[in-house]
Amino acid sequence: MTKPITLLAIESSCDDTSAAVIRDGAALSNLIATQKVHEQYGGVVPEMASRAHLQNIVPVVGVAMKNAGVTKEDITAVAFTQSPGLIGSLLVGACFAKSYAQALNVPLIAVHHMQAHVMSHFIEDPKPEFPFLCLTVSGGHTQIVLCEDHLNMKVLGETIDDAAGEAFDKTAKMLGLPYPGGPLIDKYAKEGDEKRFSFPISDMKEYDFSFSGIKTSILYFLQKARKDDADFVSKHLNDICASVQYTIIRSLMKKLEKAADDLNIRNVGIAGGVSANSVLRLALQEAGERKGWNIFIPKFEYCTDNAAMIGVTAYYKYLKGEFADMSMTPTARATWHE
Ligand code: KG4
Ligand code: ZN
Repeated sequence: MTKPITLLAIESSCDDTSAAVIRDGAALSNLIATQKVHEQYGGVVPEMASRAHLQNIVPVVGVAMKNAGVTKEDITAVAFTQSPGLIGSLLVGACFAKSYAQALNVPLIAVHHMQAHVMSHFIEDPKPEFPFLCLTVSGGHTQIVLCEDHLNMKVLGETIDDAAGEAFDKTAKMLGLPYPGGPLIDKYAKEGDEKRFSFPISDMKEYDFSFSGIKTSILYFLQKARKDDADFVSKHLNDICASVQYTIIRSLMKKLEKAADDLNIRNVGIAGGVSANSVLRLALQEAGERKGWNIFIPKFEYCTDNAAMIGVTAYYKYLKGEFADMSMTPTARATWHE
């Protein structure tokens, strides 16, 4: 009997320390330690993130291995997030992965975080068939990605400034909500009227996005409203959240539908932290029914940053023999497509 391929994967690109064990492409465990320290600052403080990763990484890997029921001897290769992300955070994961691989004398696999978000659709069934179109929306990126196969991906369009998640988080900050604001806006919006206030959104060429304008229009809107009524935000929080969310989701869905129509693609999914958004999930379902798409939405634990998506990407790289040299260093920014 051939030995199974058992990968230990580490994700540490931002403010979540995560480790997963992947066996033959399926997740045996996926542990995520979320750093609470950033909440009070309204955003991730890079130096604090690196320090928290240092504290978390050994216990997180230990529990991920225990939960998976594997020992060090079972590990076939070690995977880590190589880019993009906060350099200090990436370095903690990279150094740990290299040391672990070296100590066990197993290969190292470097994974691109954005490719991994798309690959979160391949952790569990039902998995998309190719060609597959994925809208990846996170705190740092907004991309429409065309996947020809597991590792062959092309970015068709992306944001030219802020990411969709950033628009959620910055709006939340202006409303006095803690970081990360996306899930809170989603929560308050459930009780609000999405048509109550209207915000403009820039229409970019082809499949590109822009989310920095909406941030400015919300800022001016709030300044003016607060001048007339100091309690405006607390009185209308639900309606503001619903209206902002509606504007962002409409912009995302418009471009996704355009790309799917233009390329005549029927397998369409969403990934990344913002794909946890309830209205985006509903909008994809509704578009899927209207257009006859097969739609793909990851489980909540695979939407936000997680090591299982790193491990599953590494599994396909392992099958192709795409290993990293021990001299490979992380990079804060990197492209992964032509
Ligand atoms: O993918 P992710 O965990 O980290 C990055 O790679 O950036 O995404 C985090 C982003 C944050 O901006 C957060 O506010 C947003 O995902 N997010 C949401 C929701 N849950 C997380 N945005 C809107 N609605 C949600 N339910
Ligand atoms: Zn991410």
